[in-house]
Amino acid sequence: MSKIILTGDRPTGRLHVGHYVGSLSRRVEIQQKGDFDEMFVMIADAQALTDNAENPEKVRQNIIEVALDYLSCGLDPEKITIFIQSQVPELTELAFYYMNLVTVSRLQRNPTVKSEIQMRNFETSIPVGFFTYPISQASDITAFKANIVPVGEDQLPMIEQTNEIVRKFNSVYGETLVEAKAVLPERKVCLRLPGTDGKAKMSKSLGNCIYLADTPEQVKQAVMSMYTDPDHIKVSDPGKIEGNVVFTYLDAFATDEHFEKFLPEYKNLQELKDHYQRGGLGDMKVKRFLNAVLESVLEPIRQRRKQFEKDIPAVYEILRKGSEKARAVASKTLEEVKNAMKINYFSDEELIKVQSEKYSG
Ligand code: TRP
Repeated sequence: MSKIILTGDRPTGRLHVGHYVGSLSRRVEIQQKGDFDEMFVMIADAQALTDNAENPEKVRQNIIEVALDYLSCGLDPEKITIFIQSQVPELTELAFYYMNLVTVSRLQRNPTVKSEIQMRNFETSIPVGFFTYPISQASDITAFKANIVPVGEDQLPMIEQTNEIVRKFNSVYGETLVEAKAVLPERKVCLRLPGTDGKAKMSKSLGNCIYLADTPEQVKQAVMSMYTDPDHIKVSDPGKIEGNVVFTYLDAFATDEHFEKFLPEYKNLQELKDHYQRGGLGDMKVKRFLNAVLESVLEPIRQRRKQFEKDIPAVYEILRKGSEKARAVASKTLEEVKNAMKINYFSDEELIKVQSEKYSG
């Protein structure tokens, strides 16, 4: 079976280090291995509009930010297809037909939609477009016959919903669509990196993110003010690792090579943790190490970003070409879907023949 990969992000802000460990670094790894037939990465602007209808400018401005973040992390338009969701109108058409296969109560049970409704205080005024975005996401995935979808944990209900639609469609209209498998980050710490303040979620409004495009000064500032163990006051005090954001970030980012390079008195993270827990290791030293680790990851990304920023029209051209290619693939699937559903009146010679016979008698 061919391997077709599809993932995407909503363009509602720049991408941060949580996106990096949760999905971006994995995508680049998959891309470099080349063990796939097609890989699509989608900027989900239409989905972003489902809860930003009154703020289209925000979505519009963030398309280029997300594209720059992708390219600077190493996603390569020579190897994969990067495209903009709204520029593939076939996706919308597919969603319209899939809507007939999903009940309102099924959407109401979707845990991700449920918690998003709460977060946005939508309880009494949920936009229909927002409520149905899991169906639109099923179109995104099935339009490309994607069978591998690398995502974060919060997206599992979307993949489940997609596969229900696939099974229902295939059983009603005949074998047409392909089921997808979600691929989660391998390491648990990468599933959801906490904010620098220790809050579970990184968010722009909380000001607790480290963005891929942040300057070295901004990164340093964020690391130095990170939440650690509030009871670890003197260097000699024993410190706690659980809930200590500096160690959580080290879990996500630090390798043995980083120790060799920046902190050779420890072999690995376990040794550093042991010392911290015993007492005698100050927060400052650990933070300085984390800063060096983050810089070694972020500096090459920053440098690549600078190069791409010099030619913004070229970045838009990458997106235009990618969208064109995506459109060609999606329209082929749409045609198959319409054939299966028998909404192919003008190309179905059998239909025209049978009806002429019926009326020529
Ligand atoms: N829902 C995803 C997010 O919030 C974005 C997305 C839209 C997506 N369509 C997709 C992800 C299809 C994977 C596959 O980040």
